[in-house]
Amino acid sequence: MRVEFTVNGEKREADVWAGESLLTALRDRMQLPGSKNACEQGECGSCSVLLDGTLVCSCLVLAAQADGHEVVTVEGLEENGRLHPVQEAFTDTGAVQCGFCTPGFVVAAADLLRRVPDPTDDEIREALSGNLCRCTGYQKILDAVHLAAER
Ligand code: FES
Ligand code: FES
Repeated sequence: MRVEFTVNGEKREADVWAGESLLTALRDRMQLPGSKNACEQGECGSCSVLLDGTLVCSCLVLAAQADGHEVVTVEGLEENGRLHPVQEAFTDTGAVQCGFCTPGFVVAAADLLRRVPDPTDDEIREALSGNLCRCTGYQKILDAVHLAAER
């Protein structure tokens, strides 16, 4: 089946099979590999994207469900060639180790700061509770979100 939706401000089309996930369509058909496939079960958050402004796990959304809608991936957060403040803060605080979880954390943190510009530790922990990291121990990720909020 043919689907058409807006990705990072651009109209995109793809032929997908009926059960294909949005994550697979983004990565394999639209050459947007930023969203990661770590569990494909909605457990890790590495595939997080915004669908019509709502944070979702793209592995749990059918590509067909995105038809006619608007998707923003981690690739779409930069503006005019400049990294999003959350992306800069992750690199500046060393919140990235293997990096596999990072796109999902960045999308979720950017979504949080859009809604809550100066979040508390608890608000950050709650907002990022759907994202798993096996490397950092999470403290540097918290530091990164606070730094991005300050900036
Ligand atoms: S790959 Fe989607 S939640 Fe893990
Ligand atoms: S940096 Fe490796 S899983 Fe998070």
